[in-house]
Amino acid sequence: MRILSLLVIAGAFFAGTLALPQTQAPATGDAEKGKALFLRDGCYECHGYVGQGTKDGARIGPPVLNVQGLIRYVRRPAGAMPAFTEKVVTDAELTDIYAYLRSVPAPKAIKDIPLLNDLK
Ligand code: HEC
Repeated sequence: MRILSLLVIAGAFFAGTLALPQTQAPATGDAEKGKALFLRDGCYECHGYVGQGTKDGARIGPPVLNVQGLIRYVRRPAGAMPAFTEKVVTDAELTDIYAYLRSVPAPKAIKDIPLLNDLK
């Protein structure tokens, strides 16, 4: 009986931990603020003013990652990118940056650029 009640308590405990709200940033951000932050935090220095990519950083606009993926990457980047901590740029600010990158139009498909088609 005691073991059973212990199990019930343990079960309730774990259910409680699982039910805790996830600390996830909201999926929407402010693109205008995001643009200012993209400049303030120096993302543009490697990724270009509209995230188009430079010799120092990959193309990140429009983003292929979702907002959680972007935040995860910025916190623990692979390779040459420096990590940005929560003290430097918050999750909410990165959500704004994400919104800014989302507002960048996707590049045209090669088939839609006549000059490139002429080269074939
Ligand atoms: C010093 C140069 C530099 C700065 C500054 C920088 N990045 Fe990067 N970033 C890189 C490089 C280089 C990569 C490509 C991966 C690698 O080799 O490290 C990258 C990759 C990324 C990726 C992953 C791209 C993908 O699709 O896999 C994201 C997202 C990103 N950066 C966002 C940011 C944001 C947001 C900022 C500003 C807070 C920032 N970066 C500032 C150099 C930089």
